[in-house]
Amino acid sequence: MDEFVVRGGRRLEGSLQVDGAKNAVLPILAACVLTRETVHLHQVPLITDGENMGQILRTLGCSVVRDGSTVTVRADDLHTYEMPDRLSKQIRSSIFLLGPILSRFRRATVTYPGGCEIGLRPIDLHLTGLRALGVDIREEGGMIHCDGAKMHSGEVHFDYPSVGATENVMMASACLPGVTRIHNAAREPEISDLQGFLNAMGGCVRGAGGHTIEVEGRPALHGVEYTPMPDRIVAGTMLCAAAITGGEIDLKRAPVSSLTAIDAKLREMGCRIREEKHRVMLSAPRRLTAFSKLQTSPYPGFPTDMQVQMLALLTCARGTGVIVENVFENRFTHAGEMSRMGASILLSGRTAVVRGVETLWGAPVTARDLRGGAALILLGLKAAGETRVARADLVDRGYDAIEDKLSALGADIRRISSGE
Ligand code: EPZ
Repeated sequence: MDEFVVRGGRRLEGSLQVDGAKNAVLPILAACVLTRETVHLHQVPLITDGENMGQILRTLGCSVVRDGSTVTVRADDLHTYEMPDRLSKQIRSSIFLLGPILSRFRRATVTYPGGCEIGLRPIDLHLTGLRALGVDIREEGGMIHCDGAKMHSGEVHFDYPSVGATENVMMASACLPGVTRIHNAAREPEISDLQGFLNAMGGCVRGAGGHTIEVEGRPALHGVEYTPMPDRIVAGTMLCAAAITGGEIDLKRAPVSSLTAIDAKLREMGCRIREEKHRVMLSAPRRLTAFSKLQTSPYPGFPTDMQVQMLALLTCARGTGVIVENVFENRFTHAGEMSRMGASILLSGRTAVVRGVETLWGAPVTARDLRGGAALILLGLKAAGETRVARADLVDRGYDAIEDKLSALGADIRRISSGE
């Protein structure tokens, strides 16, 4: 397993172009199954979650070919509705394939995706949504067997605005005769991006970004060229890298409108931020000031995927800040690793109280998920001495060559094989 070796104390400075969004690319790759024609996706980051999703599509009979940052998918030879067990377990987002495969075959079998470090990750809302469309679902021995022979459009009501469940129902209903309405839908920008992709394929989806999404089924969808939106979490993470080092960064191709909650917190910490159409420029003070409180919630609230990066900023800011994690039940798993570096964090259930310290010390630490791994790298950029972040493979799930991007901004970071 690779690890990152970071030497702290460098001020980051420079510009960076933001790659395509992991959490837009994954459902969009699944949605390629809805057409027999060729789809070209541009600016697709080289991340393992995306590569694994591509592998699952190949196992189902699709052709998936990468040429630089363009990925071409052709699903005309899709020959099975059964998802491969091993790969499905590797990434949770294989559950996104339920809807599209049901749309193609009126049948689907998928492994029950396990939980992960940040929580149990149930899929009850996905299944509730599909049942509302007339899908008969049987769960047996860790497998989910879906029979969509009697599938129909209809009204879907979510108790919670689940991102994945909203996307699954959008894709399951895209070719169902009639109008499907999704109430209490997730409003994340990636949902709007999926709507844009489905409509570019000839679909008829309206309302994404709001509480109710309307899908008017179309008999067939056609091939398309599409560029998924830029990654707001990678963008936010890079803003934090500049912020924690008292540096400056100029983000190009930034998803400006979906960064407002993150920008607001960084301004509260003393950063100066200027925005242009597709650009965000940040300059940070030598030492940040703690915000008083941050609560995560579904979009347009503060994104849970940026919570641990903000926790990292608090550890060395002036003052004390509080973070409340409302989306996942176990998303403070990196507090212990940060304490090894001198952070002062008090945890109580879904609340973390962080008293900023003047100095953090480099130490050997271990990532337990991709966002926590990125946050430990942020601490390493600030800490005195050397920090080794083990499990680089977890960071690679959602960050494309993070060490190259940070090095280009002046960081002293390299990737080594463990044991070197
Ligand atoms: C998506 O996960 C993202 N992943 C996550 O990003 C992100 O943290 C999350 O949305 C919230 O924004 C992808 O898009 C691939 P949810 P998803 O369904 O769809 C509960 C990252 O780091 N829930 O909105 O799984 C669930 O347990 C990842 O890039 C149910 O109870 O998120 C959680 O508490 C991490 N039943 C909450 O809802 C369900 O059927 C939010 O989950 C589904 C979800």
